[in-house]
Amino acid sequence: MPPKNKVVRKNRKSKSVYTPATEEAIANLEAQENLNAPENSDAQEDLTEEAGLLVDPEKNLELEKNEPNLFQLFATDLLQIPLVKVNGKIVQVVGLVAESQGPDVKIGDLCHICFRDGSHELNAEVVGFREDRVLLMPLGALQEVGPGCDVVSTNRPLSVPVGNALLGRVLDGLGNPIDDKGPIEAEDFYPLYATPPHPLRRKMVDTPLSVGVRVVDGMLTLGKGQRIGIFAGSGVGKSTLLGMMARYTTADINVISLVGERGREVREFIERDLGEEGLKRSVLVIATSDQPALIRLKSAMTATAIAEYFRDQGKDVLLMMDTVTRVARAQREIGLAIGEPPATRGYTPSVFEMLPRLLERAGAGETGSITGIYTVLVDGDDMNEPVADTVRGILDGHIVLSRRIAARNFYPAVSVLDSVSRVMPALVSREHLDAAGRVRDLLATYAEAEDLVNIGAYKAGANIKVDWALEHLEEVRGFLSQRVEDHTTFEDTDKRLLELAPYPESK
Ligand SMILES: Nc1ncnc2c1ncn2[C@@H]1O[C@H](COP(=O)(O)OP(=O)(O)O)[C@@H](O)[C@H]1O
Ligand SMILES: [Mg+2]
Repeated sequence: MPPKNKVVRKNRKSKSVYTPATEEAIANLEAQENLNAPENSDAQEDLTEEAGLLVDPEKNLELEKNEPNLFQLFATDLLQIPLVKVNGKIVQVVGLVAESQGPDVKIGDLCHICFRDGSHELNAEVVGFREDRVLLMPLGALQEVGPGCDVVSTNRPLSVPVGNALLGRVLDGLGNPIDDKGPIEAEDFYPLYATPPHPLRRKMVDTPLSVGVRVVDGMLTLGKGQRIGIFAGSGVGKSTLLGMMARYTTADINVISLVGERGREVREFIERDLGEEGLKRSVLVIATSDQPALIRLKSAMTATAIAEYFRDQGKDVLLMMDTVTRVARAQREIGLAIGEPPATRGYTPSVFEMLPRLLERAGAGETGSITGIYTVLVDGDDMNEPVADTVRGILDGHIVLSRRIAARNFYPAVSVLDSVSRVMPALVSREHLDAAGRVRDLLATYAEAEDLVNIGAYKAGANIKVDWALEHLEEVRGFLSQRVEDHTTFEDTDKRLLELAPYPESK
């Protein structure tokens, strides 16, 4: 026997119970009332005419014939409001997923699982359906959930509180502060899932965004609204590079999402890599590796939603996600738990559906921009690993960090020859582009001759281009390497780059 569902009255206070048609009719009615008011002004008359409500009674009659009257609209809406609310009951828990009989929900709805002693409740999200059961993924530990616990739907998806008060704050994966600096005053709520800006209404990426790191600003210039990946194994300097960029960038605001890091790494990042000045204009969203998979996944959406809020305020936002690989792994855990079949290397199809949906949300909007920097783990330098491969296809460029370069204590360990910023030609001057091309040429020439040079088999004068590369190598390396505490402005980088390694004939 399925447990009998509990019946409670619906909370009637919920906002806007009217359909858009009723809302419009109410607005029209209000406009008409204004028209009839004695202090009626010309401006209001214009307004009513615009709304299609003409004072001419014949015309009004016509209007009534074509459109349902307000009473009918109210009646339709009233019929749609459920007067009773049916709660669900937990019937089974397998692994990460709780199954309940009812309530009436849709995918993405936020529910509360109420503990039987009524002490507190656990938030859970509807992630699927199996036969007549609802599959719920908890946003916390399932410890105290038992059979028969009530499941109450909130009938709305998860959202995150946003506002200027977020600056300088450290949040958990759902946007709650975890830094002991008190509660955050929300100016608005943004949904965790948003649709990306309309492709045709996005601004073009045509203005450079400086990150204060020479190898990036000079060789792989980023543009406002661009999305780029940093591909690297662990311990190659991803977090350090992100910290430098956060501190030195000319973006208005940084939103930094740390997903699946160890607790120790988080503190190191905040105190060592980001520092106090970096934190001041940043918002950090953190979901450490011990958090449930759903929280780790949501934290990426939370950070993106916060970035969207600041973008809508007209700000240039730098959104950094470290790492998107761990977001994909969290989605894989969820997919496998609800019975999705594993496809490529254990990753379920939903991972490859989620990635573009998440990454497309960054970019330029109609006002403001989100420049996205996403780190991708490529362990064993396998660039064709499915997540790396998918992400590379979505983004407008990639920066590859090389373990070989880091091993020589050369930082940032960017492998310039393997990296590309696809929008760079639209961002910098012709001279800048030529100079960057020259540096690439030098690095490629040296890479070819490196083995010969190292074993002493290369004789000066044998090849004019190799001679040129060897002559300027140290100068170029000095430009590409940068200490963590060094900040170079875009203008300085540009100036230094133009003077770097001129070709022999142009000397
Ligand atoms: N710019 C740098 N200058 C000097 N050392 C660096 C630099 N970047 C990284 N390192 C060294 O590499 C180590 C790992 O860097 P980290 O940024 O934590 O890597 P990841 O985030 O890729 O695991 C650091 O502890 C530091 O010793
Ligand atoms: Mg790191």
